[in-house]
Amino acid sequence: MTAAAISQTTPPQTAEPLLVLSGVTKEFPGVLALDGVDLDVRAGELHVLFGENGAGKSTLINVISGTFPPTSGTFRFAGEEMQGLTPSAARAVGISPVFQEFSLVPSLTVEENLFLGREKSAAGVLDASGMRRRARELIAELGFDLDPKARVDRLDRAHQQMAEIAKALLGNVRLLILDEPTASLTERETGRLFELIAKLKSDGVGIIYVSHRMREIRALADRVTVLRDGRHIKTLDAATVTDGELVELMTGRKIDVLFPAITHKPAETAIAVENLSTADGLVKGVDFFARAGEITGIAGLVGCGKSELVRAIYGIAPIASGTVTLRGEPLHRLDPRTSLRSGIAYFPANRGVEGLALSRPIRENVSMAALDLDRYQRRGIIRRAAERALIGPIMETLKLRPPNIERPVGNLSGGNRQKVMLGRAMARDLDIFLFDEPSVGIDVGAKVEVYEFIKRLVEQGAAVVVVSSELPEVLALSNRLYVMHHGRIAALLEGPAKTEQNVLSSFFEEEAREKAA
Ligand SMILES: Nc1ncnc2c1ncn2[C@@H]1O[C@H](COP(=O)(O)OP(=O)(O)OP(=O)(O)O)[C@@H](O)[C@H]1O
Ligand SMILES: [Mg+2]
Repeated sequence: MTAAAISQTTPPQTAEPLLVLSGVTKEFPGVLALDGVDLDVRAGELHVLFGENGAGKSTLINVISGTFPPTSGTFRFAGEEMQGLTPSAARAVGISPVFQEFSLVPSLTVEENLFLGREKSAAGVLDASGMRRRARELIAELGFDLDPKARVDRLDRAHQQMAEIAKALLGNVRLLILDEPTASLTERETGRLFELIAKLKSDGVGIIYVSHRMREIRALADRVTVLRDGRHIKTLDAATVTDGELVELMTGRKIDVLFPAITHKPAETAIAVENLSTADGLVKGVDFFARAGEITGIAGLVGCGKSELVRAIYGIAPIASGTVTLRGEPLHRLDPRTSLRSGIAYFPANRGVEGLALSRPIRENVSMAALDLDRYQRRGIIRRAAERALIGPIMETLKLRPPNIERPVGNLSGGNRQKVMLGRAMARDLDIFLFDEPSVGIDVGAKVEVYEFIKRLVEQGAAVVVVSSELPEVLALSNRLYVMHHGRIAALLEGPAKTEQNVLSSFFEEEAREKAA
């Protein structure tokens, strides 16, 4: 055979994928966060990283973005071996990360943050007005309602998230990395982000996307890579894999029932509010009650006022008018301390870093809420053994990864930090529980644990309120379901009336009422 004939039968050399990882390993003291990971991401594809809390997703992203080098292994980007990569070198070649924990400088404005480390220069001179124009254009293009002049520390989490996304999109982007980007965006901004993702894909940008939300994965993914305990388990075509298969690969076990069967035994009214309006105007004249022994759900789109309603009940959001009654007694003071003393637990949706002492062990962070109880201290001295005996089993229930309560919270993955916040409220005897988006940011396996936890609370007679934007979740868990829309209660659904269809039609009915009024 001649050389020419051979070359004719050889398939044409396919172009190397945009990103290729070979045997990437990352060790932290006592934890092998990544263990010999091979992975490739193609130009124009959206590649989902899927795995339990602590599986190594954020660590992988940090390696690719130059935050720290891998302990061993190599990776190539756009055909070049990346070595000694720094965050600014990564940006310069077109690797743009949006981190789970934000990287903005709080004391600077949005536009200053956008241009930090890559001041645009015209002939070597700092072009301040050009920079400002570019920032404004980009934010307008994204359709984000974000003031470029606002200081970052004055923005709420959703707006910080928008600034973070804008920052990643500035400049030359060839690989966009999004680590749970929608966790604090409203529906509208999520929609804009998805449109933008489609456009970037058609421009040939590769995208790495981390999410625990199955619906999102379904809507966006081309391929899905499952990571477990730092190892690459499998890369699959999103079009042919089922949710069940993904979850099984992720957890290493089959999860048949996501939502447990809950026995509701409604008893006395634990909390009632009458004609309640909040000072910020987001809740308007709401009547609501929650009974012991059952789960009361509040459904509605992001921004409908459902979070503000529970925040007002707990005493965080100031009210303008209305009354709150606790176990039949009108409350004259609404503040979180009084609420906690009265036996109310509140789990905020934004459990992020707020309220956690990052350098302190998990044990201390969890027991914090209970240390005033005599069981855990004597004359101000903490009873370590009692503390450990309490916190250990709680964190075991929540499947803390790795299962060591002596590690500092700062070393935990995002989802495991949230479990610390959940653990805190389990550490004392409370009988009214307010959950705002209980499953945001936690993996499917841990969701099952949280639902089981909620089930136990209710069946032991607690009153539980679950606020959720995830319709399947709130429909499955609640016994009575309020639907909120534009700050008002649009419907109360019970029994067979509690269906997705009825929730959606109550939005439209409320819209019609608003228009008529
Ligand atoms: N800076 C660090 N120091 C020590 N250990 C760390 C550090 N960062 C991460 N780890 C550990 O590495 C492992 C992987 O964490 P990583 O943050 O990558 O998880 P993840 O998959 O992003 O999880 P999540 O879904 O909860 O965000 C965890 O065991 C975590 O505790
Ligand atoms: Mg993470």
